[in-house]
Amino acid sequence: MARQSNSFVCQSCGATYPKWTGRCDACGEWNSLEEETATAAPAGAHGVDGGANGRALELSGLDAATDEAPRRLTGNKEFDRACGGGLVPGSALLIGGDPGVGKSTLLLQVAAGAANAGARVVYVSGEEAIAQISMRASRLGLSKANVGLAAATSLRDILATLKKSRPDIVVIDSIQTLWSDTATAAPGTVTQVRACAQELIRFAKNTSTTVILVGHVTKDGQIAGPRVVEHMVDAVLYFESEATRSFRLLRAVKNRFGPAHELGVFEMGGGGLREVANPSSLFLSAGETPAPGAAVFAGIEGTRPILVEFQALVSPSSLATPRRAVVGWDSARLSMLLAVLDARCGLGLGKHDVFLNVAGGLRIVDPAADLAAAAALCSSLFDAPLPSNALFFGEVALSGAVRPAAQADARLQEGEKLGFKRALAPAGPADDEPQRRPAPRIRLDEARRLADLVNWVRRIPRNEVEPRDDRRYARRESAA
Ligand code: TYD
Ligand code: MG
Repeated sequence: MARQSNSFVCQSCGATYPKWTGRCDACGEWNSLEEETATAAPAGAHGVDGGANGRALELSGLDAATDEAPRRLTGNKEFDRACGGGLVPGSALLIGGDPGVGKSTLLLQVAAGAANAGARVVYVSGEEAIAQISMRASRLGLSKANVGLAAATSLRDILATLKKSRPDIVVIDSIQTLWSDTATAAPGTVTQVRACAQELIRFAKNTSTTVILVGHVTKDGQIAGPRVVEHMVDAVLYFESEATRSFRLLRAVKNRFGPAHELGVFEMGGGGLREVANPSSLFLSAGETPAPGAAVFAGIEGTRPILVEFQALVSPSSLATPRRAVVGWDSARLSMLLAVLDARCGLGLGKHDVFLNVAGGLRIVDPAADLAAAAALCSSLFDAPLPSNALFFGEVALSGAVRPAAQADARLQEGEKLGFKRALAPAGPADDEPQRRPAPRIRLDEARRLADLVNWVRRIPRNEVEPRDDRRYARRESAA
């Protein structure tokens, strides 16, 4: 006989307790626990004798064809890229993001693209009526697409519909609006979100349907509902934007079938989301005369090379504790870099205000950004513009050594494609012979130590940007 076991779940963070308490220990929220009833298996069912007679399969005996998961392309290249090269049948994805960022727009476009490529697609909306979805579709020029639309919130109804129409791809917009009659809590609560996600994921695995769940992230960063789904699904992607900008980033934070941190770039306009195939052009300030403090970083986001501009402003401070502000990069990383520049290169930055900004609103996590940030800082400190055709990348160690960066070839090739002529980067692996260089039109200057960069900024670019004036140099160096 089935046994009922009760537990209490915090609707704010998802923590589970055996007894009710007024305040959740995990997130500090008051009065957020709700009772959840789980039906346990009959006593003894898990015993050795009660279990089904299963069989373990020999890994080596499995069909070799299964080593690469087959994928379904949606025709939206940026979306396919973010998913790791298309959608895997039987997988479940979570697309999270702030309300209004464009999740519904993106998924309607993806659904239409996949339908045009021959897939059977059903788009279930719990937030909008059919008329609203079709209005949006006609605005996006997709009214002819062969997508099945449903406006429903009852999980039982949705599953019944899906079992009848047997689609290849299902979009659920959003998971927070669904409710299952197996749970008593209100829609949008952790209990409901988890119960509905579980059912839909089981449906995906049993029928080889790709299920895409949309999840809202609330403004204060609390993602109670979607957070509990993150570990259940195969891939988690976040759709992000900078408040004042029109471009949108679709970033994979988890992917069981592909690389995490993969990035898709879109631009929101009157006709919906446009794919941005060459995002480097978005993040570089084109055509401007070089200003002191600007350095171009050849970065890697996921598997894709992207060039972005670091901008620094270093000026003598009147405060006892100089100001440090950083946008788009890790502030602890900046502190570390400033300390290394002080300790290993004697720049005396401790008495300067330092501001660092990544142009275009991108957030850089690639460790190889150190050298570009240092180049921007030195350029501002020496008031020396860097040549606009130079790239920088490399990770700086506390010792002041510059460590080789991953995928140096891809970085250089991206730079070459965009007309860059020189790069300052650490030496690559030993087999980096000139004739085998991947980007022969880029002159690679080696930076083994951070001091090499400082000297490079002091000397070499000055010859190219303006005629060298040794007296001004002497003055600036003694001031620094
Ligand atoms: P939406 O997809 O509804 O966001 P979400 O589902 O993430 O809540 O997008 C809404 C925003 O997108 C809204 O502010 C208007 C904007 N938008 C455009 O700028 N152009 C368009 O063609 C569409 C359809 C929406
Ligand atoms: Mg929406």
